Amino acid sequence: MPKARDPEDLIRELLVRELDTVNVYTEMVDRARTAAVRELLVEITRQEKHHIGEAVDMLSRYDAGQAEALERAGLGRRTARPAGSIPVIFEPVGVSTTCTAGDRLLDIAEAAGVEIRHDCGGQGICGTCRVQVLEGASSLSESTDPESRHLDNLLPEGWRLSCQSEVYGPVAVLVPLQTGSGEE
Ligand code: FES
Repeated sequence: MPKARDPEDLIRELLVRELDTVNVYTEMVDRARTAAVRELLVEITRQEKHHIGEAVDMLSRYDAGQAEALERAGLGRRTARPAGSIPVIFEPVGVSTTCTAGDRLLDIAEAAGVEIRHDCGGQGICGTCRVQVLEGASSLSESTDPESRHLDNLLPEGWRLSCQSEVYGPVAVLVPLQTGSGEE
């Protein structure tokens, strides 16, 4: 059985790999000739950077010296800030939560325990993460190209892809019944 390691050691190893991965993806973005492939790589790179942020947050929990150094550099744990004050409501389950400006609807739902199907892992490819905005449509970021592709004439009816929508003000959304295999 492999020897158990201290969590901070594992997190540092994870960070090294994630940082290296971002370099690899960034280089791939430069090489991508197709817009759709480039878009996918940019999104994946963004997610990797998000993972790095999460790993740094977690490292601060286990390594007081690291937490202190980050604090001195003005990079204290994001979780040390309030969880956010923007109200978000998910219907029909009636879950109320809060978020910080710029958080993605899909991430907010996940953190609140609301299940939204996301077959492509939030990359704007599958279209399964669609939700209908009931209130606060103007509180969301501009619709993206993947949303135009997947939602087409549903956009004017308030449908959005939750993986593409960032929240900047109070919003209420309807999560459709999660059924089927995701095939469109
Ligand atoms: S999760 Fe696939 S498009 Fe949003």
